[in-house]
Order: sequence, then structure tokens, then C-alpha cells
Amino acid sequence: MTSATARIMLFSALAAVLAVMPAFAAQDVDLVSQGRNLARMSCMGCHANDATTTVAPGFAAIGAMPSATELSIKVFLRSSHRNMPNIVLDERQIDALAAYILDRGGK
Ligand code: HEC
Repeated sequence: MTSATARIMLFSALAAVLAVMPAFAAQDVDLVSQGRNLARMSCMGCHANDATTTVAPGFAAIGAMPSATELSIKVFLRSSHRNMPNIVLDERQIDALAAYILDRGGK
């Protein structure tokens, strides 16, 4: 392979990566807004968006906790919880809710 061919190949690889990146960003925004809608429907009887209610901590407070990571929230949402009804969520809904909660927490 000549060095010119190598450069062209490297360039096309880079261009391909750059072309895909905005799609990822848009998908994240989508995920967060899907999570928001889901939370409105299934969670906001107990959790407020930003404020902590007498029933449950707010999503902003949960998302801002040092222990709140994508993994910890997903694990939490997959396991049953003493004070939470077992709301049945699929993988995509869990992803969306985790993205939304972390977004609320400024992460
Ligand atoms: C019936 C009331 C109720 C509903 C509905 C509810 N929750 Fe909760 N949730 C709670 C309470 C109460 C706590 C905190 C108490 C505790 O941690 O034992 C909590 C805790 C949490 C936590 C963990 C906070 C921590 O300490 O780590 C997360 C994350 C969470 N809820 C997400 C959700 C999501 C997402 C939904 C909707 C799919 C939801 N909850 C629906 C009552 C509820």
C-alpha cells in the first residue's frame, strides 16, 4: 500500500466516524426525552422532576448523588425495591430513564 492510499483510507475512516457522531448526539437527546415522558407516566406519582416530595426523592437529587451512575440506576431499575411498586420496564425504557435521571442530575 502506498502512503497516499494509506492516507486516503485513514481519511475515509475519520470521515465515517465524524459522520456518525452527530447521530449519536441526537439519539442521546431522544433517549432523555423518552425517559422524561416515561417518568411522567410511570414515576411522577411519587417522584417529582426536581423537588424532593414527602414520598420520594426528586429525579434531580437522585441523578446528582455521587453514587448515581448509568450502571447503578439501571441495576436499581431492574431489581425490585422495597418502597417502589415493581413497575415492569423493558431494556429500552430502562436506558431512557437512566439517561433522563442522569441528565436531571447534570451528568
Ligand atoms: C409508589 C411510589 C413510587 C413510584 C411510582 C416510583 N418510585 Fe422510585 N422511589 C420511591 C421511593 C419511596 C424511593 C426512595 C426510598 C428508598 O430508596 O427506599 C425511590 C427511589 C428511587 C430511586 C433510587 C434512589 C436511590 O436512593 O438510589 C430511583 C433511581 C427511582 N426511585 C426511580 C424511579 C423510576 C424511574 C420510577 C418510574 C419508572 C419510579 N422510581 C417510580 C417511590 C416510587
